[in-house]
Amino acid sequence: MSVTDSVRSWADLFAARTRADVGEGLAEILALAGNTDLISFAGGFPDPRTFPGAVAAELMRELVEAGDSSALQYAPTRGLPGTLEALTARLETTQGHRPDPSELMITSGAIEALELVGKSFIDPGDVVIVEGPTYLGAIMAFRSFGADVVAIPMDEDGLSVEDLERRLDEGLKPKLVYTIPDHQNPAGVSLSSERRSELVAAARTHGFLVIEDVAYRELGFGDETLQSLWSLAPDVVLQVGTTSKTFFPGVRLGWGAGPSEIVSQLVAAKQNTDQCAGALGQRLFEEYARRGLMDEQLRQSRALYGRRCELMMAALDASMPAEASWTRPRGGFFTWLTLPDGSDSVDFVKRAVGEGVAVVPGVPFYPDGRGTTNVRLSFSRVENELIPEGVERLAKLIRSGLEGRTT
Ligand SMILES: Cc1ncc(COP(=O)(O)O)c(C=O)c1O
Repeated sequence: MSVTDSVRSWADLFAARTRADVGEGLAEILALAGNTDLISFAGGFPDPRTFPGAVAAELMRELVEAGDSSALQYAPTRGLPGTLEALTARLETTQGHRPDPSELMITSGAIEALELVGKSFIDPGDVVIVEGPTYLGAIMAFRSFGADVVAIPMDEDGLSVEDLERRLDEGLKPKLVYTIPDHQNPAGVSLSSERRSELVAAARTHGFLVIEDVAYRELGFGDETLQSLWSLAPDVVLQVGTTSKTFFPGVRLGWGAGPSEIVSQLVAAKQNTDQCAGALGQRLFEEYARRGLMDEQLRQSRALYGRRCELMMAALDASMPAEASWTRPRGGFFTWLTLPDGSDSVDFVKRAVGEGVAVVPGVPFYPDGRGTTNVRLSFSRVENELIPEGVERLAKLIRSGLEGRTT
């Protein structure tokens, strides 16, 4: 039935850019992850146990009783001065590099920072390089501006800079190279320190901007922390960060740190997206960080996720057939499972739901249809005692698929 006499569907009036193939991916994953009847290895959600609810309530009460209206008021587009200061201090402590005030801004989560990057840099047809596989939200953000998103392979040391350099030498001219160097989503691997240096050297030679997404950087399970790309080369790197995995995602708070000319452009672009990130979340984060509460919370979060990762690795080692393989994360939320050759990950995911286990197929994490034999497993929000059972059910499905082939 027509919506009006002359318009068949409202979609006929949608802008052409909405027809870019951004997929329904993220919404589908969020819907699956919310299903509490399943053993869920699906969404990249933090465990609610890590949320500082009581502290947030106490801070809120303090702010209101002290008559501090900044938390309830509009904020400057770049961010509240105190929040920017607290974040500057934190970046200096955790990454050894202090941004100038002109080099830092607060955003409504990392996803908004990526949207602002897209809005500021991408004309239809521009090339953006990503890791294959990569964060689905980034593919969607870049594609929504008409980018030609090209994936470069990864291995256990992260993005293959050698492959990237070969493509650059062959004439590929990206404006942006997007990477998640620490505990990557979805692959669970980290970029080696040698490759970090090679990547920023390539950016200087070939004239592209590196977008460094540090969503899981502070969630390493061991003592090893590699230098951030931004601290290594603040002239050619824009760092995009989030407090979603370390504080809580309900505040929708992130940042962009990079060359001042770029940050100024992103601030200008932000004026007509949301104008400012929510001041309440900014003030809560500022006080939380200032009072040193972040570090204690991080210790607990790392221990929680580290234990879950250990349980998942032990379960995979114990249950999976030799034809399957997976990555061994040193931090973050994810491991990347490779099913036996010839598997169909979308079909596998449907059968897994039938067995009461939610996982995410690999295909949406690539811009080019790869990932048909991969599945992302998240260990961040599943109860410890369910991990062996969930993995065993997946292993059984894989084994039955293998048996089906030989008979
Ligand atoms: C790599 C990566 N970047 C960014 C985000 C989004 O962060 P935010 O909640 O700040 O928008 C996520 C969330 O899953 C992520 O995995």
